[in-house]
Amino acid sequence: MTHVFHRNPRSKLPMAVAGEGMMLIDQQGKRYLDASGGAAVSCLGHGHPRVVEAIRKQVSELAYAHTSFFTTAPAEELAAMLAEAAPGALNHVYFLSGGSEAVEAALKLARQYHVEVGQPQRRHVIARRQSYHGNTLGALAIGGNAWRREMFLPLLIEAHHVAPCYAYRDRAEGESDAQYVQRLADELEQKIIDLGADQVAAFVAETVVGATAGAVPPVADYFRKIRAVCDKYGVLLILDEVMSGMGRTGYLFACEEDDVVPDILAIAKGLGAGYQPIGAMLCSDRIYDAVLQGSGFFQHGHTYIGHATACAAAVAVQKTIQEEGLLANVRQRGEQLRAELHQAFAGHANVGDIRGRGLFVGVELVADRASKAPLDPSLRTHARIKSEAMQRGLLVYPMGGTIDGRRGDHVLLAPPFIATPADISEIVQRLGEAVTASLA
Ligand SMILES: Cc1ncc(COP(=O)(O)O)c(C=O)c1O
Repeated sequence: MTHVFHRNPRSKLPMAVAGEGMMLIDQQGKRYLDASGGAAVSCLGHGHPRVVEAIRKQVSELAYAHTSFFTTAPAEELAAMLAEAAPGALNHVYFLSGGSEAVEAALKLARQYHVEVGQPQRRHVIARRQSYHGNTLGALAIGGNAWRREMFLPLLIEAHHVAPCYAYRDRAEGESDAQYVQRLADELEQKIIDLGADQVAAFVAETVVGATAGAVPPVADYFRKIRAVCDKYGVLLILDEVMSGMGRTGYLFACEEDDVVPDILAIAKGLGAGYQPIGAMLCSDRIYDAVLQGSGFFQHGHTYIGHATACAAAVAVQKTIQEEGLLANVRQRGEQLRAELHQAFAGHANVGDIRGRGLFVGVELVADRASKAPLDPSLRTHARIKSEAMQRGLLVYPMGGTIDGRRGDHVLLAPPFIATPADISEIVQRLGEAVTASLA
């Protein structure tokens, strides 16, 4: 009997007792190769001495000081590092304790911006189907993950959804990338017009869709077209890079690859690499100045925002990534991972698509490659793969409901940025065995 209210109270979990680099180790001494960093969190692997030391040092000097009384050196240093690295005028950083909090703050700041600039009628938020922005009520409301939302629908604020950019399934036969992207931009424009051309506050999207659909990158030019539509109607663009940001795609900010700068950006996971719970919201000068010159106060806050120890850990994580040139490794090992997956699954009848960017890779499973028909959801193939992989000492992040919240299965891979070529090959080999065993 356990007193911990586990997320799945019926499951029997092994007890993790140690972490070393790419490995997690349980109480029985079994070693697991971490190919997903939990949910794309542990980007430096486990037990990194530099981060451990930074935390130790910060706790012994000053663990925490409330942000209504003080700022701290690690918060200032981390904000300066992020602002310096972020594209465009994303120069202001608001620290939080995770991804959902970063998204909540982004939504409230978007709303407050419009109030500050004299457009209080802007209240609608548009997001995309098959997306995930967090589990707190605001983030859940705008998310498009049907099964996560269903039970809580009566509690959720109004939000509106358009199609995601999911080329493998949604690009029509014979449609070019350019035509597909135009169709999606037109759909967003029509949605804005339907809601009222001056009534929409923000459009929210994951730069690369994470767990809900399995590392789905946008088609070229998608975000440039979306940005143009947002600008035309004064709608703020919020990009959620909680999972895809902080180097996961091989770029510190995933949107760099799409040549687009949002007005507000949410990050978390890889920011602190799991060593401390930390997230952040970045906003542009224009948004920040509206608050500064307007009410002078962002109507938000939590007890642990700007937590000194969390910021110190994140500074150490980000310096390590920079100084060890790990983004280049992410790009190279990512290429290797996709190439080896293609090779391993070339003849596999149930592997429909292999996609992603950097070390953020999705493998979508199907019943039939030609028709792309999904596997029967009652088989719970994703859950079997997770279990077969764990039996083989491999941690991956599979999920069901890839297509519409109910149908479809995929496996998300997000190994630490320190992965070696041998680690990547080992991941592919064990995953191949797990997939074959699950579909047998
Ligand atoms: C894209 C995205 N946004 C938001 C969140 C929520 O973050 P957290 O679980 O840290 O609250 C997640 C978590 O998986 C995510 O992937």
